[in-house]
Amino acid sequence: MSVDFTFGGSMKAPLCVAPMFLVSNPALTLAACSRGVMGGFPAHSTRTREGFVQWLDEMAAGLAELENPGPWAVNLVVHGTNERLEGDLALCIERKIPIILTSKGAPKDVFSRIHDYGGLVFHDVASARHAEKAAEAGADALIAVASGAGGKTGTINPFALLNEIRDVTDKPIILAGGMSTGRDVFAAEAMGASLAYIGTRFIATKESLSDDYTQQMMIGCSAKDILFTTALSGAPQNWVRPTLIEEGIDPDALLAMKPGTTVKATAAKARYSKIKSAGQGIGMIKAVESAADLCDRIIAEYQDAKRSIATAG
Ligand SMILES: Cc1cc2nc3c(=O)[nH]c(=O)nc-3n(C[C@H](O)[C@H](O)[C@H](O)COP(=O)(O)O)c2cc1C
Repeated sequence: MSVDFTFGGSMKAPLCVAPMFLVSNPALTLAACSRGVMGGFPAHSTRTREGFVQWLDEMAAGLAELENPGPWAVNLVVHGTNERLEGDLALCIERKIPIILTSKGAPKDVFSRIHDYGGLVFHDVASARHAEKAAEAGADALIAVASGAGGKTGTINPFALLNEIRDVTDKPIILAGGMSTGRDVFAAEAMGASLAYIGTRFIATKESLSDDYTQQMMIGCSAKDILFTTALSGAPQNWVRPTLIEEGIDPDALLAMKPGTTVKATAAKARYSKIKSAGQGIGMIKAVESAADLCDRIIAEYQDAKRSIATAG
């Protein structure tokens, strides 16, 4: 199935406000859609199936109020270890959620069930090998998660990653990792990406679920405060260094740990809910603002960047 990335002319810039656990919600997603970009949230940010149903109801009601909204998506962890997968997927099928953002594994049967109702699947990949597997399983687009991304990050430079993925498949690519501005969105497009996928920049927004502590922490940090380790979650992840220190975790001790070993929250006296993840774009967060205003600004910057290149020649 080929993807129309203008989404019927509803997109004002090739931008997706990326799904973030315990950050994204219907309010943030609707803010993105209302400004003419894509938005989405993880199903697992809701603690229960009832909570998920409520969020889907909120989306339906919010979208009904909008004229020509941008597209929206639900993020599902499609790995067998996700006990909620079957029930959450059944609900997405029943509600015909237009786009499902998938991560972990690339199960063909899950992708076909989404295609059967006309849904699209965009799948997270962090290497050419992942991309090949996801393409074979039928993903409609590949979300190339480069180094410097918030959450579970990739480790490869975005230029190298996109080039290697392009070598193995002609599926559309969505670029993720470290972008913050409309100029960055334009650069992603120039690199051949169909969409720029931005998460971190939207953590400190009025619509997001993040609390005041997290948002102020984000404002005070820059790229040097981001620590990459597999030692906390077992997966490659970028963490906000001062939030580790606050919770009694010594960042330098983490870096000295043997590859493959992880530290237990209890051993570190840490409350995992207080340890925050973000990407290297964190330095561009200057204030808490409305996501709708932020989208408008990124769109305007994107259009300016496009114009300035067009007139430069
Ligand atoms: C706090 C946080 C939580 C995230 N949670 C998820 C998640 O639940 N599912 C997912 O697919 N990606 C998640 N991500 C990754 C984003 O969807 C996206 O790939 C990433 O934010 C892009 O990089 P950037 O943060 O540098 O903009 C998360 C990112 C952050 C910062």
